[in-house]
Amino acid sequence: MDFKNILAERIREIEKVLEGYLPQETGHQKRIMEAMNYSMNAGGKRLRPLLMMETCRMLGGDIKEARPFMAAIEMIHTSSLIHDDLPCMDNDQYRRGKPSTWAKFGEDLGVLAGDALIVEAFAVAATAFETTKYPDRVGKAMGILARKTGIYGMIGGQVVDVQLTNKPISKEELDFIYRLKTGALLEASMMIGAVLSGADEERLKLVSKIALNVGTAFQIQDDILDVTSSQEVLGKPVGSDEKNCKTTYVSLEGLPNAREEVKRLSDEAVLLLRSMGSENEFLEQLICVLVTREK
Ligand code: IPE
Ligand code: IPE
Ligand code: MG
Ligand code: MG
Ligand code: MG
Repeated sequence: MDFKNILAERIREIEKVLEGYLPQETGHQKRIMEAMNYSMNAGGKRLRPLLMMETCRMLGGDIKEARPFMAAIEMIHTSSLIHDDLPCMDNDQYRRGKPSTWAKFGEDLGVLAGDALIVEAFAVAATAFETTKYPDRVGKAMGILARKTGIYGMIGGQVVDVQLTNKPISKEELDFIYRLKTGALLEASMMIGAVLSGADEERLKLVSKIALNVGTAFQIQDDILDVTSSQEVLGKPVGSDEKNCKTTYVSLEGLPNAREEVKRLSDEAVLLLRSMGSENEFLEQLICVLVTREK
């Protein structure tokens, strides 16, 4: 399997899907559509739609059914980045290799564009009802999307992240933050891929566990890169965590332990994936390469 070629092809496919769901820049409120499209088109690894698509594929689902949700999850993720960069949050001026949305469009538009992308995501996801043979699956997927975005998911995690800024923090609290602020959207991605392919509760639980492992590993690696990488490579500022007095896995446990934990969590995810008995070599490889990702 040529992992790199397949990855490039999948990303092209995802970009095409996203393009089809972005708003037209027109009307008196044109400026907000420009801000939404600016941040969506700035780049990004598209990891969440990719995980959704590959989970759906692995479990025998129809990828076409997942398309509105692939766009929706990337919109929600992008909104989380726009808000995360705001002066009242991490106060970062650079994202995806460009000025962050608020730095380019102003703080007011930054808040509104983030809000708009979250809401638009649900409007886009709801279009899945128009074509599906399985409205029950689409309904369930929308519920997961909402729960994993909100107070029991990404937003809940971001709340604890900002509350504990500048405060001593236990390993358990840190795990909670990572599971929610980053894990939850990866969990939603994989769970929705599974739900749309008709997976039963038992498989859904396994998928959730795999995704949470990958999510926590992904955030720890993000913390590592914040101290070891450069803005040129990452496309976002480095040293953001120190600037904001954040306790991270790296500041709490040190770099070597952090690296080890990324590997341990990912290895466990791969074992769990294999235990499902449905093959997706590409997905397995993807989880493995995330351990050593450089951006
Ligand atoms: C950044 O996510 C925020 C975290 C949850 C660590 P990504 O690293 O997936 O950002 P993009 O989408 O590639 O820009
Ligand atoms: C934020 O974590 C995760 C989100 C929900 C956006 P970080 O604050 O570490 O993300 P980056 O490093 O700015 O991308
Ligand atoms: Mg943050
Ligand atoms: Mg940040
Ligand atoms: Mg970070």
